[in-house]
Amino acid sequence: MRVPPTSAALAILLGCGAPSPTPASPTPVASVAAPAKSADATPPDAAPRDAKPPEVKSPDAKPPDAKPAEVETPPEVKPPEPDPAEPEAPALDIEYVPTPRNVVAKMLEVAAITKDDVVYDLGCGDGRLVIAAAKTYGARAVGFDLDPERVAEARANVEKAKVGHLVTILQKNIFDVDLTPATVVTLYLLPELNVRLVPQLEKLAPKARIISHDFDMTGYDPDDIWMIVAEHHRPPPKRRKHYVYLWTTPLVKLEP
Ligand SMILES: C[S@@+](CC[C@H](N)C(=O)[O-])C[C@H]1O[C@@H](n2cnc3c(N)ncnc32)[C@H](O)[C@@H]1O
Repeated sequence: MRVPPTSAALAILLGCGAPSPTPASPTPVASVAAPAKSADATPPDAAPRDAKPPEVKSPDAKPPDAKPAEVETPPEVKPPEPDPAEPEAPALDIEYVPTPRNVVAKMLEVAAITKDDVVYDLGCGDGRLVIAAAKTYGARAVGFDLDPERVAEARANVEKAKVGHLVTILQKNIFDVDLTPATVVTLYLLPELNVRLVPQLEKLAPKARIISHDFDMTGYDPDDIWMIVAEHHRPPPKRRKHYVYLWTTPLVKLEP
């Protein structure tokens, strides 16, 4: 009886060789060969044959389930709320007009200022009186003004004149200032403002000098009055007479 050929015997008979032996060591998982590719295999980075051309999205394209874009209305523009911390524009009792330089010199001269004096200018404008008192006589001086613009200007002038060690500029209402440290007070205000200052001026120590440009102090007789001709501070050039009044404390009220 014929024994059917084994598969090995058949392979020999057909000339196909023996089956390959089992590898000696296991192939690491990572190097397991990729499944065999068919002849028409797509290169790894190529798009699949039936893929549609990629959609070119604009950078701000919304995901497909995003709601339709709403048209943005510009925000309502409101005027800024006033900052309560910011001081309001001060209500000045008199606007700024500078005393001409030669009148400044006369005011300080008639006050007979020395380096021991303390000069207060009430409404100091650009600081010219207090600066001159320090520069010419070596006196200490304080300028008061309510207008922040004048205060800044006066402080800059003090720095420029290099008298910062003698002169201080303060933003203060002149009607709130304690005048008792002053030995000389200079004024270029108005007659009614000079009179309003009397309660403060009456507190000055004896022998203090009060000097006013152009305006009297109704009810109080000055020690003396001088007249000086000076150029107007603004063009066109115009000369006029200026007056300088001097009082020495204690102030004496005239009999009605
Ligand atoms: C006519 S100017 C005199 C400036 C300076 N004394 C001079 O003779 O050149 C008056 C000044 O007073 C200031 N002023 C007005 N009212 C004031 C007040 N209540 N307190 C402080 N300063 C005031 C003004 O800003 C202005 O600079």
